[in-house]
Amino acid sequence: DWTPDSFVETTIAQLKEKLGDDKVVLGLSGGVDSSVAAVLLHHAIGKNLHCIFVDNGLLRKDEYELVLDSYKHMGLNIKGIDAKQRFYDALAGLTDPELKRKAIGRVFIEVFDDAAHEVQDVKWLGQGTIYPDVIESVSVKGPSATIKSHHNVGGLPDFMKLKVVEPLNTLFKDEVRNVGKALGIDPNILGRHPFPGPGLAIRILGEVTPEKVHILQEADAIYINNLKAAGVYDKVWQAGTIFLPVQSVGVMGDERTYENAVALRAVESVDGMTADWCHLPYELLAKISNEIINNVKGINRVVYDISSKPPATIEWE
Ligand code: XMP
Repeated sequence: DWTPDSFVETTIAQLKEKLGDDKVVLGLSGGVDSSVAAVLLHHAIGKNLHCIFVDNGLLRKDEYELVLDSYKHMGLNIKGIDAKQRFYDALAGLTDPELKRKAIGRVFIEVFDDAAHEVQDVKWLGQGTIYPDVIESVSVKGPSATIKSHHNVGGLPDFMKLKVVEPLNTLFKDEVRNVGKALGIDPNILGRHPFPGPGLAIRILGEVTPEKVHILQEADAIYINNLKAAGVYDKVWQAGTIFLPVQSVGVMGDERTYENAVALRAVESVDGMTADWCHLPYELLAKISNEIINNVKGINRVVYDISSKPPATIEWE
């Protein structure tokens, strides 16, 4: 019978057998899948697992520091790389969503390849691929697909020539979470909402600038913290804040303002393929809106997205 504990036991044994004294390099994203894959590999091969966590400057507020810290706490052999500026430079002037994704994918590959080269004699690339990623291209937009779409641009980066080890490729998402629980991984990591690889770049409509990222991080932190405080975070499948490229008139004290708007998005879903907008309580929305407008400089209007998928998508880009 399949149980999370039996899976953990057999998988660790198989990984030990398969990998021996080989080194593995793995990119951590802060998400559930890569975290569980890393901890399994860590149990099997310890310090021979070299994890890489890239700060692309497009993560949520304080996320890089918090996540890096909790990975270190778990004893993972991890290297954090501050590549913010490289991503911002690559995004400068880009407004088309797919060009933004491509630029982010390209820089990620460059940064990851440099980091992987620093691991002497590495033989394997570890990945958090799960079963749905294998059977269909659910992750058409996922990191591995981003990587694939770059296969024929200037040849294969060296890390993609490595053998691939994917300990979760027979599991569904809820099974991954249960395996994570059996491994004792922090519930805060296991319960995280899905977050797109290109991060806040696709939640800033139009050109991405560090200033807009900062404003969006502040607004989003208020939103997410309020969802947690109200006890609704775990009931929502995914939530996020979108920076809109429109300015509108407002008043602040005696002054007329002319600033940007943010949209709040919260959806219920099973797999992200279809989604319904969440009927969040009006009182909660009112509190979040007030807090954002009163505390985030540059935002004077908050709207709530009441579109379901299809025909709308979860992300706005
Ligand atoms: P959409 O917007 O297509 O999103 O309804 C469905 C799910 O996919 C996530 N998403 C992405 N994930 N890279 C990713 O890794 C991407 O480019 C990307 N675009 C969308 C989205 O957050 C949602 O969970």
